[in-house]
Amino acid sequence: MGHQVGIIGGDGIGPEVIAEALKVVRAAGVQLDTVEYDLGGTRYLRDGTILPDEILEEWRGLDALLLGAVGTPGVPPGVIERGLLLKMRFELDLYINQRPFLYPPNNVDMIVIRENTEGPYVGEGGVLRKGTVHEVATQGSVNTRHGVERCVRYAFALADSRPRRHLTLVHKTNVLTFAGDLWDRTFSEVAVEYPGVSTNYHHVDAACIYFVQSPEQYDVVVTDNLFGDILTDLGGAVSGGIGFASSGNLNPARTGPSMFEPVHGSAPDIAGQDKANPVAAILSAALMLDHLGEGAAADRVRSACADTATITGSTREVGDLVVARLSH
Ligand code: IPM
Ligand code: MN
Repeated sequence: MGHQVGIIGGDGIGPEVIAEALKVVRAAGVQLDTVEYDLGGTRYLRDGTILPDEILEEWRGLDALLLGAVGTPGVPPGVIERGLLLKMRFELDLYINQRPFLYPPNNVDMIVIRENTEGPYVGEGGVLRKGTVHEVATQGSVNTRHGVERCVRYAFALADSRPRRHLTLVHKTNVLTFAGDLWDRTFSEVAVEYPGVSTNYHHVDAACIYFVQSPEQYDVVVTDNLFGDILTDLGGAVSGGIGFASSGNLNPARTGPSMFEPVHGSAPDIAGQDKANPVAAILSAALMLDHLGEGAAADRVRSACADTATITGSTREVGDLVVARLSH
């Protein structure tokens, strides 16, 4: 029996890139038993449902989830993001968002570990006197010792397993003094347990400069949910483009399936045109293979994707090329 994987193609280019990712995984010799789920903005516009509870419960028994992209014009901002993506991250306790960037032409070889269940993403806050001159909007950021510590611990263990053994904390401790202090103290305390890992700290604004000017200095970077969201788009931009950026939403405690998805969105403007870059989805599937204990296949898929930033071709042609490279 193969690994039980739930597939959410989603909207826009999502189904196209996922088709290529599945083609590559199968060509790499990994057996998957897939179940497809029709979810996303298109479904929402059709019947008003986003993520029925039965589906969420069904997922708890799976080994992993692979998602293309969700989001459709015509759906108000936040509906699908909160109702599907963030609900998955919160309900399945996918507390690590692991986003690797490997791009030799820019000397980039880093992994950003983004906390994935807290920060401003929790949706704390509200609005008063909406539409009046006295309107008030608050949006809180939740940072718990438990949430920060498990994320920081994961990042230290990962850094310790890599040759350079270097970990950078990114935050904004000079302004976000409450959350920043919690992150900074937790980081320093866990660091004591990892004497072999060298550490440093960058304010997030400075990190934006360094990501562009000297990304080679980073090995593993750990940061909060929102900073991680922003920094990883930048990471994609300096690593060949967002079309190559992969991610794993991980539940390292394995109390449920982890979810793998490209960093990019549904790109409705090019949907259905066989134009989308499938490499981010293929590399996300490789992260899934790592998680499923198929590390050798994952490495083969990654090698087959090397240098794909230098080629041009349609979605399917790029998928076929990666498949062809696997057999060598
Ligand atoms: C990402 C996306 C999501 C996020 C959105 C779509 C909710 O931008 O995965 O980076 O902000 O986390
Ligand atoms: Mn993002």
